[in-house]
Amino acid sequence: MQLFATATVTYHYGFNLQDITMNQATTRYTKTAIVLHGLIALGIFAMFALGWYMSELPKEAPKQAAFDLFDLGIYTLDLAKEASPRTFYFNLHKSVGVTLLALIAFRLLWRITHRPPAMLTSYKAWERKLATGTHHLLYLLMVVVPVAGVLMSLYSKYGLMWFGMDLLGGIDNKTLRDLFKEIHESVGVILLVAIILHVIGALKHKFIDKDDTMKRMSLK
Ligand code: HEM
Repeated sequence: MQLFATATVTYHYGFNLQDITMNQATTRYTKTAIVLHGLIALGIFAMFALGWYMSELPKEAPKQAAFDLFDLGIYTLDLAKEASPRTFYFNLHKSVGVTLLALIAFRLLWRITHRPPAMLTSYKAWERKLATGTHHLLYLLMVVVPVAGVLMSLYSKYGLMWFGMDLLGGIDNKTLRDLFKEIHESVGVILLVAIILHVIGALKHKFIDKDDTMKRMSLK
């Protein structure tokens, strides 16, 4: 009977029921989920830093053919075509954002096909509710913010490029561009607040409860 159910699920959905049941029985996330969690977290932190840095750059500035990234003296990037600092950093933000959106889509697919390990039994009822609610909110917001960014670019006059390759031409509709800009920025702030809450939760489990929450999401 069990064999029959596994075979049926594999046939219909392309993934194995055993993966799900085995994962529930283990106490850790899969290696893929852990690597995706870390890469996306790093990417999101970098995108917030880049977003705030670039919005302070002046609209009028001489074009350059090479950029010392963030003026840190660590890495200089040569461009095929000269650009002003504002154009260069906006295009970098868009390119990294599109890459991150693809990673987030893959993570969602992985999450749907690989159920996470059951929460630790030591969690109180309110902790379970808060952690589950925050995780769902994080998934929702990490899709809404980049999608609003893509739509904002689509409705601007500039369109969307991915590391120099044209992806979408700009439609130049100011009303829609302003709407998606508002969504991108204000939902971005909500995402930041949710991330801060999530990290405070993780630190509480590590340093106050001293339980295995952090280990479940670490490769070691
Ligand atoms: C320093 C930063 C971070 C730390 C220390 C951290 C830590 C953790 C830990 C320990 C878990 C596992 C919780 C459990 O076992 O129930 C987790 C899950 C999760 N984290 Fe983070 N996290 C960080 C940043 C982020 C960021 C930036 C995001 C994305 C916006 C994020 C999204 C998630 C989500 C959605 C889950 C739930 C996974 C699932 O069960 O499907 N995390 N995080």
